[in-house]
Amino acid sequence: MMDDSLVIVSDVIAKRLEFEVLISDLSARFVNIPAGQVDREIEEALGKVRAFFDVDRCGMFEVSPEIGEARLTHLDMADGIQPVPMRIDYLRLFPWSGDRLVRNQEVMELHTRDYPPEATVDRASAEAMGIKTTLRIPLPYEGVVRHMIVINAVKEERVWPKEYLPRLRLVGEILANAMERKRADERIRQTLEEVQRLRDRMQMENVYLREQLRREDGQAHIVGESEGILRMLAQAKRVAPTDSTVLIIGETGTGKELLAQAIHDMSSRSGKTMVTVNCAALPPLLIESELFGREKGAYTGATTRQVGRIEVADGSTLFLDEIGDLSSDLQVKLLRVLQDGRFERLGSNRTLTADIRVIAATHRDLGAMVRDGKFREDLFHRLNVYPIEVPPLRARVPDIPLLVWRFVQEFNRKMGKSVDSIPRQTMERLKQYPWPGNVRELRNLVERAMIGCDGRSLAVELPAGARGPTQIPVTLEEVERKHIRDVLESVHWRVSGKRGAAEILGLRPTTLHSRMKKLGISRPKP
Ligand SMILES: Nc1ncnc2c1ncn2[C@@H]1O[C@H](COP(=O)(O)OP(=O)(O)OP(=O)(O)O)[C@@H](O)[C@H]1O
Ligand SMILES: [Mg+2]
Repeated sequence: MMDDSLVIVSDVIAKRLEFEVLISDLSARFVNIPAGQVDREIEEALGKVRAFFDVDRCGMFEVSPEIGEARLTHLDMADGIQPVPMRIDYLRLFPWSGDRLVRNQEVMELHTRDYPPEATVDRASAEAMGIKTTLRIPLPYEGVVRHMIVINAVKEERVWPKEYLPRLRLVGEILANAMERKRADERIRQTLEEVQRLRDRMQMENVYLREQLRREDGQAHIVGESEGILRMLAQAKRVAPTDSTVLIIGETGTGKELLAQAIHDMSSRSGKTMVTVNCAALPPLLIESELFGREKGAYTGATTRQVGRIEVADGSTLFLDEIGDLSSDLQVKLLRVLQDGRFERLGSNRTLTADIRVIAATHRDLGAMVRDGKFREDLFHRLNVYPIEVPPLRARVPDIPLLVWRFVQEFNRKMGKSVDSIPRQTMERLKQYPWPGNVRELRNLVERAMIGCDGRSLAVELPAGARGPTQIPVTLEEVERKHIRDVLESVHWRVSGKRGAAEILGLRPTTLHSRMKKLGISRPKP
């Protein structure tokens, strides 16, 4: 008798000692483990606890009382035991127990058959999981229950010595602490990544800002008072404050980029730099990494990480110049960005998002490209939300003197010259020239003339082949005849249709025909 009770007492002491060793072993292991190993170590620890208690399941839950959730995060089970799903929502399956849990009430041992009548949901869940007895300890962190450790007996009902409870709580606290540390580590890493991303972005933005300053040279505003330019500016003003996509169409050198900049400057995004991508300037792979960015090693030769311009343009305007030259692969990818603002860097599968306003420009006829299967119709419709056409210079003759003077002033300043007059005859010739290269050609011509000019009067030489009048026409009829003929020549004698002479002159084709007849204008025989 005496001996028997002695054996039992020493058994209990031995068992307690075993637990003590387990705890000191765990706390030593968890002191300094790296975040990446936490999950594995927790599972291993749960295995030891389960072995010590000689039970069937042992799990850790993460509790968010704010959103009414408790999710199983780690689990160890005996072989041959009915598995439970890894992500069970405790508070939903055990509302009665959950209520006690968030109030930090522990359960020493609850046999499933002993659930009170108001806990029918809990009882049903426990039965479905084959649970016979539960031991559950809430683990508060800063006064709120954030975790819990749970032990289930499945094979048979069990009863555990009361004194195990505080020790099990200690184990739970060690594990919960490790999880919190891992969480904090992750948050720090995310913050660092974000800081890195912002720093990359800021550097890029600075580069663009400098490029932009150089390009603009403080001269961003659009010169012109012709009907065509005023109509264009009115459209720009209307669409600028919206976030709508703008498609700018116009011949080369007409001022498409200038207009895009003006729209950005008038928009609510003007505080940030407009970011430009020229879709025709580079081979498709390079355009792709320019646009979307790439990770180091994304392809052969990609030795560094690059932040894409879409990312840089977050919160600003992305100007896609020469959009008609975008390869069909990139058309698909761009469509996705335009649809939901999502994209990935090359060589990465992490999806990034950007809030961008898109302005696209092209000198091509996108509608015709769609018909020929060279441009995706869906992308075209995405871009063609608000089209603005920049008229060619020959269709806005009244702007020519204004532009000439504007450029003369610019080069006077830059070259230290003092040109202040232009012969009337010269200006007339400039107005009659058809300007296939539009404003850029005009600007280059003025620049060239200014370089060769030392006096105050500017002599301009028109390109060879340009037909200047041998004498200045005097009557209105002569001016009219000359002008109509020049316009007709500039469009290869096409009278009607888009950009035909009639449209440029603002006449109906039939009216133009009768005017030509009256003035004796006919197409020269080749
Ligand atoms: N209305 C204007 N007023 C003042 N400068 C202008 C105007 N239009 C164009 N320019 C100037 O003409 C040049 C060409 O303009 P821009 O680059 O915007 O044309 P673009 O249509 O984008 O040409 P491309 O099709 O060749 O890319 C620039 O130097 C620009 O500043
Ligand atoms: Mg351009």
